Amino acid sequence: MKELQPLFNFDEMATKNANSNGLTGQNIISVDQFDRDKLDYVFARAREMRELVQRVGGCDLLKGNILTALFYEPSTRTSASFIAAMERLGGSVIPITQGVQFSSVSKGETLADTIRTLEQYSDVIVLRHPETGSAQMAADYASIPVINAGDGAGEHPTQALLDLFTIREELGTLDGLKVAMVGDLRYGRTVHSLTKLLLQYNVSLRFVSPEILRMPLSIMNQVIDAKVNVRETHDVADVIENADVLYVTRVQKERFSDLSQYEQVKDQYEITTELMGQAKEKMVIMHPLPRVGEIHYNVDKDPRAAYFRQVQNGMFIRMALLAAVLGKA
Ligand code: ASP
Ligand code: CP
Repeated sequence: MKELQPLFNFDEMATKNANSNGLTGQNIISVDQFDRDKLDYVFARAREMRELVQRVGGCDLLKGNILTALFYEPSTRTSASFIAAMERLGGSVIPITQGVQFSSVSKGETLADTIRTLEQYSDVIVLRHPETGSAQMAADYASIPVINAGDGAGEHPTQALLDLFTIREELGTLDGLKVAMVGDLRYGRTVHSLTKLLLQYNVSLRFVSPEILRMPLSIMNQVIDAKVNVRETHDVADVIENADVLYVTRVQKERFSDLSQYEQVKDQYEITTELMGQAKEKMVIMHPLPRVGEIHYNVDKDPRAAYFRQVQNGMFIRMALLAAVLGKA
């Protein structure tokens, strides 16, 4: 009788993870750490994680490991998907996600001391914080890996990885694409990270924003140095017909010091079914979420609307990253 092959070869998975393309023990602070080789590695592991979840739900790869989810800013997707990722791989979580006001942060404890405390209990810390540079600062204090889950208007590297993975899975390639980003390009950390990652591919970029929310100069300079074809405009109509990817973002109210400026720009863009009528048949509309009016609910039925598939990809990418960072054999 033929011996049944196991659905998953956990030994092989463990060996791959032990040799995790230089990610074992690393902090994940910025997308600058990822070259195409590393991206291919993470995407291949994420596809395996997808198959694992679809076929058996999870495994024990990270059994005995603990993740601290430390969120100084609100989150639904990033916190929940890191927790789900850890639990599907058999690990556990210390969840400080329901508002740091219930932790000793409200007694005045510094980020440095909070990090040096939590690392005593866990193997990896996922940090979201309102200040740009906070993830690097936490990593400087920590002796375990720190993963940046969004540092102010700085970066959101794991979001950009899942965004890039979504584009690849939806359109079958990352090269030769016209990617349009719409909305708050100034304060939107997801578009900062995604733009930098896309510079590694043969893409053209279109940035659509109100004047006061244009892409920061530091990122524009990197785009120009990479000799990527780029244009800026205030009008979605200028880009909708040719876009392969329309990446829409929320105006980040919490980053404005002058709320009257927010009021002026908050409703500038709304993607409607009429507008989508002008888009290519094969393209994809994405959003990191939450949305607060930038994409009309009628668009959700459009097969090109990928934002909830994007959400699910976040869990697979984070499973892949956690396995790699924790180097589990
Ligand atoms: N959730 C994303 C972030 O935290 C985008 C957003 O909040 O608009 O950066
Ligand atoms: N995309 C994203 O970061 O969502 P949350 O803010 O809900 O985590």
